[in-house]
Amino acid sequence: MNIDKILTELTLEEKASLCSGSDFWHTKTVERLDIPAIMVSDGPHGLRKNVDLADNPNQAIEAVCFPAACATACSFDRKLIETLGKAIGEECQHEQLAVILGPGCNIKRSPLCGRNFEYFSEDPYLAGQMAAYHIKGVQSKGVGSCIKHFAANNQETRRFSVSAEVDERTLREIYLAPFETVIKEAKPWTVMCSYNRINGVHSSQNKWLLTDVLRDEWDFSGLVMSDWGAVDDRVEGIRAGLDLEMPSSLGKNDKLIVEAVERGELSMADVDKCVRRVLELIDRATEGADPTKEWDKLKDHQLARKLAGECIVLLKNDNGILPLSSKKKTAFIGLFAKEPRFQGGGSSHINSLKVDSALECVKEFAEVTYAQGYVTDEDRIDEALLSEAIETAKAADTAVIFAGLPDSFESEGYDRTHMKMPYCQLRLIDEITKVCKNVVVVLHNGSPIEMPFVDKVSGIVEAYLCGDGSGGAVCDVLYGKVNPCGKLAETFPKKLSDNPSYLNFPGEGDRVKYSEGLFVGYRYYDKKEIEPLFPFGFGLSYTTFEYSDLRLSHNELDEDRTLKVEVTVTNTGKVEGKEIVQLYVADRESSVIRPVKELKGFEKVFLKPGESKKVVFALDSRAFAYYETSINDWFVEYGAYDIMIGASSRDIRLTDTVYVNSKKRLPVNFTLNSNFGDIRQFPEGKKLLEEVLRATNAVGGFDEDDEEMRRMNEAMTNELPLRAIVSFTDDPRLTRDYLQGIIDKVNEILNR
Ligand code: BGC
Repeated sequence: MNIDKILTELTLEEKASLCSGSDFWHTKTVERLDIPAIMVSDGPHGLRKNVDLADNPNQAIEAVCFPAACATACSFDRKLIETLGKAIGEECQHEQLAVILGPGCNIKRSPLCGRNFEYFSEDPYLAGQMAAYHIKGVQSKGVGSCIKHFAANNQETRRFSVSAEVDERTLREIYLAPFETVIKEAKPWTVMCSYNRINGVHSSQNKWLLTDVLRDEWDFSGLVMSDWGAVDDRVEGIRAGLDLEMPSSLGKNDKLIVEAVERGELSMADVDKCVRRVLELIDRATEGADPTKEWDKLKDHQLARKLAGECIVLLKNDNGILPLSSKKKTAFIGLFAKEPRFQGGGSSHINSLKVDSALECVKEFAEVTYAQGYVTDEDRIDEALLSEAIETAKAADTAVIFAGLPDSFESEGYDRTHMKMPYCQLRLIDEITKVCKNVVVVLHNGSPIEMPFVDKVSGIVEAYLCGDGSGGAVCDVLYGKVNPCGKLAETFPKKLSDNPSYLNFPGEGDRVKYSEGLFVGYRYYDKKEIEPLFPFGFGLSYTTFEYSDLRLSHNELDEDRTLKVEVTVTNTGKVEGKEIVQLYVADRESSVIRPVKELKGFEKVFLKPGESKKVVFALDSRAFAYYETSINDWFVEYGAYDIMIGASSRDIRLTDTVYVNSKKRLPVNFTLNSNFGDIRQFPEGKKLLEEVLRATNAVGGFDEDDEEMRRMNEAMTNELPLRAIVSFTDDPRLTRDYLQGIIDKVNEILNR
């Protein structure tokens, strides 16, 4: 496609028309110039390609539902999610889809967000890595991805209008960071802007977000589309860099674009930029389409089961209750054993061709008895079902209760208001633990729940929403065919009020203050020393692992060099298994407020019994940096950093320290209102200050013989503004101008 030429041939009306969809899923055609339409589709854990658009825009083809992001993130496995991405990419090729809408890499700020099941983590590094590898997989097939929802879309309440009030450092370090990783590492073809506003400005018309940060800083060259219905002011959106409005606005917003250009309020150059990017996408989209490509749905369904097995997290396994023995009498209890909850509601909902239930798949391993136990249509106790379940459990050696959140408890479009499971399920678990010693709970939920039963049961398996192969995957784990190897990608707090966003979620009216700042997820629980129910990064295995020989390539490191970190992991148990090794960095002493530690690396390693392997990490300067708003850039402070290797965020096995030499210095700008303490931090500043104080005998003596007095004096004066020197002395030489001169000199020396 000769885009330069086409741009000269398109009329203004045609250009404006290309800036929005023709319907829910297609871009517009311009037949006169042979510009075809392309089709996009949800995503992101399977295809929701809608057909029969005229009759029912929501009728999706039969497809395969892979595990949702809440589950895949627990794999901490880049290869796994890339494999998933490749499978979806091939499905898109077959279905001639240009772009799959996803993945979403928004941060899980609150466990209540209705869409948490579609997001990866509370941690920006993990979320960024998982999303990037999903995209690499999809795009390796010549199909585009659409990273969403850019940005700070962390709740469903008032999702179209709420303003996320976030300070810039928090935005950069937590909420934008996963997007930055994705843009730089995976180069997605497209980005979807979020519905919400950020600090008052709609993402769909936020120039700072869509152009200054996304394109100018991160070098994004693809297309930005709106979330479905996110456009507020289309003309402002064009100026800000929102290329494509989705879905169609029935020509209304196209007309506004034309009128704004005609009135001279919008430049043709701005419109051309957007049109160019739409054309580039259309051009690129012809790369991947391949209807001759086979789509073996049953094969992909088997893949979905295999991947799900690697995502499931074993949270509790007392006395080795798991894996189950095929010989023992086992009862499966709970409707979810027969009808698993394997996906969330809303735009990512897949019309699954085949859904495996645990009750069906368990036949591959053993015979079990079954009782439904509860209903899901409403939270009411069905006494007959409850009694039947109790009798079934009594007759068994082990009861496996399938529980969790019914569909209505969490979905796109609204948030939860509490973290509780349905009462009827809790009661069921309670009653079963009274009649059966060996109880395992298998959970199907999209985000954390409170677990009042945690001490009463012997085993807990967190299966999340694990796709349409989840029934088989759960059985694989229960019977030990698969050794569980997932770890939590989010903290499970004991109760909702422990969560950092608790006081400010979902906000007041259409504003939500992110007052907890950087302290999201484990960053908060660590800092406040709050014991979670299950910490970030936690998960058990049927084997055990030992960590040894932590080695750093440097004790002292120049900021621009890479730190190589090596550690040996040994499988000390009797079965083969995979371990997720986590690397956290902790700034020992910092002049700014920082989390206790932050995840900066992870690797998953497969080990046979007795086998050892070396795991290697490479850390660049970003692993030590924080976002310094005074320079609008990342900044590494000189000093000591602990490198912590852990099996979870609360199970650090080995630690070593590196001193990082930072070349960059922050600009210094002391004023008359700066404190003594600030200036004293710098040897040059301290010297000059004390010279002045001595010469003029202002603000207390510094030659105190009494060391204690001297220290007290210094501590007190540290809090004084420099201007106090003038007020508190009668030395006529000491005027504000004189002092300003000294401060200027200090600034000059320190900025040299
Ligand atoms: C969702 C998007 C989705 C789009 C199209 C929106 O409501 O927020 O994630 O891709 O609909 O279904």
